[in-house]
Amino acid sequence: MMPEQRQEIIRLLEKGEELSPEWARILFPPEKREYELVYHGKEREEDILADTLAVPLQPVRTFGSNGEWSNMLIFGDNLQVMKSLLEMKKAGKLCNADGTPGVRLIYIDPPFATKQEFRGTEDQKAYQDKIAGSEFIEFLRRRMILIRQLLSDDGALFVHLDQKKGHYIKVLLDEIFGEGNFRNEIIVRRIQKNYIEREYIASLNLATDSIYVYSTGSQAVFAPVYKKMVIEETWHSLDAPNWSGTRPNLVYPLFGKMPPKNRCWAWVKDRAEAAIKAGDLRPNPKTGKPEYRIPARDKVVCTSLWDDLLAYSFASEYPTEKSESLMLRIIEMGSKPGDIVLDSFAGSGTTLAVAEKLGRRWIGVDCGKLAIYTMQKRLLNIAESKDLENTKKKYDKQCKPFTLYNAGLYDFSKLKELSWDSWRFFALQLFQCRDEPHSVGGIKLDGYLKGASVLVFNHMKEKGVRIDEETIESLHEALGTRIGNRLFIIAPALTFDFQQDYITLGNVRYYALRIPYSIINELHQREFTCLKQPSDEMAVNDTVEAVGFDFIRTPELKFECGVRKGKRESQDTAYIKIKTFKSEAVVREPMRKKENLETLSMVMLDYDFDDNSQVFDLDAVFYADALEKTGWALNFPIDSIGKKIMAVYIDIYGNEARVVIEPEQFGITLANNNKGKR
Ligand SMILES: C[S@@+](CC[C@H](N)C(=O)[O-])C[C@H]1O[C@@H](n2cnc3c(N)ncnc32)[C@H](O)[C@@H]1O
Repeated sequence: MMPEQRQEIIRLLEKGEELSPEWARILFPPEKREYELVYHGKEREEDILADTLAVPLQPVRTFGSNGEWSNMLIFGDNLQVMKSLLEMKKAGKLCNADGTPGVRLIYIDPPFATKQEFRGTEDQKAYQDKIAGSEFIEFLRRRMILIRQLLSDDGALFVHLDQKKGHYIKVLLDEIFGEGNFRNEIIVRRIQKNYIEREYIASLNLATDSIYVYSTGSQAVFAPVYKKMVIEETWHSLDAPNWSGTRPNLVYPLFGKMPPKNRCWAWVKDRAEAAIKAGDLRPNPKTGKPEYRIPARDKVVCTSLWDDLLAYSFASEYPTEKSESLMLRIIEMGSKPGDIVLDSFAGSGTTLAVAEKLGRRWIGVDCGKLAIYTMQKRLLNIAESKDLENTKKKYDKQCKPFTLYNAGLYDFSKLKELSWDSWRFFALQLFQCRDEPHSVGGIKLDGYLKGASVLVFNHMKEKGVRIDEETIESLHEALGTRIGNRLFIIAPALTFDFQQDYITLGNVRYYALRIPYSIINELHQREFTCLKQPSDEMAVNDTVEAVGFDFIRTPELKFECGVRKGKRESQDTAYIKIKTFKSEAVVREPMRKKENLETLSMVMLDYDFDDNSQVFDLDAVFYADALEKTGWALNFPIDSIGKKIMAVYIDIYGNEARVVIEPEQFGITLANNNKGKR
């Protein structure tokens, strides 16, 4: 840096002025890279890794009996979840069947859209789009940085994108993985039919998506994949160029003939003799020249152009669902049976379903409740779905055990059921503490947070004991000055007998970290945001950024149900009319009290709920925006009602109110409710 530049920076800093982005290049010149993508808000890789919160994974339910490994379906923001998975990898708990640590294959299909909510002049709009654009690529970059860390040493990443932002992401992937680890850009088809012809067009119709393939290092190898193609047997001449006579070992008589002038045979003598024996080399029946056989085939090795399959599943209800044939090819190419396959934008679970059918271990993450219930249903009913090889047959096997987890939105009542060890572990994870037991002044402490000691109060052993100012005083006496100037105490909120965030004694601050209520801004730095759920179908694919954690609070719900008579009996419709739906986030202070129904995101129905299994089997979704237009009534055909209905009302924070509705509540008796859906 030049002396005058140094002076100028000092002057700006002393005046408290902001440094313009141009200073970034001078202060931090790109050393190793000759080019990079620069945009507003691009954080340092080290900061992203250090600042991302890992959130505990709370098991909700395991389907099937839990063995050595249980596949994972996780509800949460993938950035925080991947940080937690990274901790698992570091602790040796994330291994492929052959024992290698880390995830072998990651496929992501993130939302491609940029937000376009802004209304203003064209210039303002263009500017806003660019901001939304740079936010979007930074959103993805942060996730790709964690992905790189999560992969095994011979792992691979497949990133599915469209033509709008793909080129930016390619540059970022080159930065994160190293340009030398770029393996391919696979082109896939996104349309089923050709479009109608028009006289003039503004641009060509979009027919393809791109999938960028990266490896973590040179060790990664891929299995060849094939596409169906019937090819007849063919015979090809064996002669080849003999560059300036540099290939004398390829010049010898074959079937009594020497190669033509300046040419040689393509194979050495031994190989030619073996091929003659196998019937794969013969003299051409007319010319007598040697020719070799390429046998008839029904498949050929794929190139990077995958135009023989459709990338999207057009029959599906989940927006932008990808096809199983696409995922079959990717998973076969990038993994072996027993390898872990991760999809951190899992959507309807195509990756998981195909990984399951191919005997891979799998992990799926999504921040949408709709996605989670769609996947749960898809996996539990996988036996009914199509076989991958022969789509005329059913797969016909049950799925292997998997566990559904919550990450970032927790059920406090379930925490009460934990053993002391699991509670202690959860508590430390929740507040990002390092688990490192130690003692100070004869007092056993549990770990560290920001360099200070942490005590997880054992409320199970000390039943009924409260933490009040006296408790803190006696702690202070025992610890003295040896504790430094901060101690964090984690305990259930009700255990504390004081309201303040901390109590100061001498030079020491004793912080109360309450479960579930505490967010100490000073500790968490970032503003907490929730796992926002969509209230219309268009928003299902939006990017969602959730930071921090919260606890489930069941929304308040009142509804009525009945049957609305049609002209004919067959036209009768059942309805559920929502009267009251109110909810709030627990940890985060709501900005203002929300109106009735304002926080509803969607209602999901299982028309034939099974009381024995207690599994919610999603059949229909009603978005809040659509419900508002029907006066908050869910209308559906009367004969879709089975034994019982389970309705799951989701709020915009991801909380659920669940109710089981008996046919009698609609005024239907079981005798005339003889249909059901199955
Ligand atoms: C294009 S869809 C994936 C579709 C999927 N490939 C399939 O075949 O169904 C993208 C998904 O990313 C999810 N998503 C968006 N932001 C996320 C985040 N921060 N964490 C986890 N999932 C996210 C959305 O909920 C949506 O389901």
